[in-house]
Amino acid sequence: MIAPGKNEPVRVETVVVPDPGPGEAVVKIQACGVCHTDLHYKQGGINDDFPFLLGHEAAGIVETVGDGVTDVAPGDFVILNWRAVCGQCRACLRGRPWYCFNTHNAKQRMTLTDGTELSPALGIGAFAEKTLVAAGQCTKVDPAVSPAVAGLLGCGVMAGIGAAINTGNVGRGDSVAVIGCGGVGDAAIAGSRLAGAAKIIAVDIDDRKLTTAREIGATHTVNSRETDPVEAIRELTGGFGADVVIEAVGRPETYQQAFYARDLAGTVVLVGVPTPDMKLDLPLIDVFGRGGALKSSWYGDCLPSRDFPMLIDLHLQGRLDLGAFVSETIALDEVEAAFERMHHGDVLRSVVVL
Ligand code: APR
Ligand code: ZN
Ligand code: ZN
Repeated sequence: MIAPGKNEPVRVETVVVPDPGPGEAVVKIQACGVCHTDLHYKQGGINDDFPFLLGHEAAGIVETVGDGVTDVAPGDFVILNWRAVCGQCRACLRGRPWYCFNTHNAKQRMTLTDGTELSPALGIGAFAEKTLVAAGQCTKVDPAVSPAVAGLLGCGVMAGIGAAINTGNVGRGDSVAVIGCGGVGDAAIAGSRLAGAAKIIAVDIDDRKLTTAREIGATHTVNSRETDPVEAIRELTGGFGADVVIEAVGRPETYQQAFYARDLAGTVVLVGVPTPDMKLDLPLIDVFGRGGALKSSWYGDCLPSRDFPMLIDLHLQGRLDLGAFVSETIALDEVEAAFERMHHGDVLRSVVVL
């Protein structure tokens, strides 16, 4: 599925996928979720390297591997990730590989039949029958899971669950508030529930989103169009504020709400992606006076090799319902329509099944 130029409709084209070189793998894609980032690529919001090969929340079967690949083999069922860590930089050596300075994705070399080079979204490009990636972008998981469910861990759902369990360190008995209940915020709710949070307060401006949030695990809901969310969260937490507040919108006003809705010494996690021009104006005395931590979560601060198999196992055991995030499965040529539904907030995730 190609985005040919800025704001032009996406379309299906024949793509030439080269054989894998050393350290690379070709993966036969079985499912790939439609994410906001794909839409941003199409709108030219990421860069101007058109044409793009879209799609990056994917799962599939390894078809062939290049020299030196030992971690995965043809026939393995894998989830793709867009941050293959190097294992050698300072961040990796300090045990924080999610901040790896030197992630290496494959130099993908995919082209149209006329030789035009394609830029794969987030180094993946998985709205396609197959794609070329670095072997380190492939994580083996239990093949008993449906590909449509598995693929979602490759991006948005992992970002949300990880914001709660990795970045926010939500613990048993904690109170958590999640501002913005799209796919990412709902995943943060699922992650908080998994971590044993006692109270999970969902905040959104859309009642439909609050209904879904409750199904996924929110214990309380607040429509912030009608009610001041800071006051509501304080009221629901004995006047204190939540231990962890997760911002999953990416706007200054919702970040500000998150900041004031946290308990003294509580943690704020920013997982919503702001635009480069957004600024925050906070009195320093409030930063000082409230203590705690202001954190951002980058791809859920996840380690794919640790987190993907664990979350898939929990799903298969019935302890984490990842299926709740698949609103619909669609064919490859329905991505344009799915962007429209996503834009109107009608779906958590549409997933292309191949
Ligand atoms: N207050 C509360 N909720 C809001 C507000 C607001 N002022 N504005 C929007 N929302 C809600 C929307 O109603 C929607 O339910 O935030 C949610 C955003 O969800 P989606 O648009 O589905 O986006 P999602 O895929 O969840 O991603 C959220 O995380 O990773 C980032 O780039 C991603 O910035 C985006 C954010
Ligand atoms: Zn590294
Ligand atoms: Zn994504």
